[in-house]
Amino acid sequence: MARSWASVDWYDHPRWYDAIYAPGTRREADFLEALVERHGRRGRRRALEPACGSGRLVAELARRGWRVDGFDASAAMLAHARARLARRGLRGRLVEGRLERCPDLGKHELAYCLVSSFKYVQSEAQALAHLRAIARGLVPGGLYVLGIDLAEYDSSRLWVERWSGRSGRARVALEVVGRPPDRRTRSETMRSRVWVRGLGPVLRHESNWTFRTWDHAELVRLLARAREFEHVATHAYDHDAARPIPFDGAQLDNVLVLRRRGRGAARISAP
Ligand SMILES: C[S@@+](CC[C@H](N)C(=O)[O-])C[C@H]1O[C@@H](n2cnc3c(N)ncnc32)[C@H](O)[C@@H]1O
Repeated sequence: MARSWASVDWYDHPRWYDAIYAPGTRREADFLEALVERHGRRGRRRALEPACGSGRLVAELARRGWRVDGFDASAAMLAHARARLARRGLRGRLVEGRLERCPDLGKHELAYCLVSSFKYVQSEAQALAHLRAIARGLVPGGLYVLGIDLAEYDSSRLWVERWSGRSGRARVALEVVGRPPDRRTRSETMRSRVWVRGLGPVLRHESNWTFRTWDHAELVRLLARAREFEHVATHAYDHDAARPIPFDGAQLDNVLVLRRRGRGAARISAP
């Protein structure tokens, strides 16, 4: 018998999202702190997370003494994030907002958006507006750490990734299938399927996405226009702060370390 899949918005189910992504959180927070230490501005510790989602990183940085602001388009993710902070007695300012029109939440030493959420921004003009708005929310010398998977337009392969995790008694499996990117429309589509077992009948959720694509040359052009930033380092999705990689398009998973230019930024050391 064919299995039926409920078509849902994956972000309406933060608990299953966290089961998959939460295990990497401490390593990502270590990575961010190491980047600030190496390239950023020491002193005050104010962070901004665009598309903060379930708040896993907001909570981890708040636990480490950062004052964290975040925004997201999903009311369900924000409610989950606020409940997590409240449960742990942590503070953070979380508001509804979109990547295309970032809300003004004051100045920060660090902004970060790690898991390719930037690709939800559908146009070049909006992507530039996003970078400029984030720059306005940073002090000179502040960092924007931006994770993005690059497109391989010549590829005709489907790619498939699978993860699993747990949440209480629930066992959660995620499969993401990506179709080859389309150079003409600058887009790629992705299907994610989630299985939740251990809570009675198996839950089967399916979500479909369309992302804006960026290959290396497209991203280089965008960064050249975002003159508020200098690009000071690139890392991979292993979040190893001690191992920068060349920014040459050879590796598809890139975490860009962008530093806000401006008076005061030049005094920052980058050993
Ligand atoms: C992959 S999750 C990342 C969440 C979080 N940053 C993390 O690292 O776990 C992507 C998030 O982007 C949010 N999102 C998608 N499109 C958005 C948009 N245009 N503006 C703001 N948030 C958006 C979703 O609601 C979701 O919470």
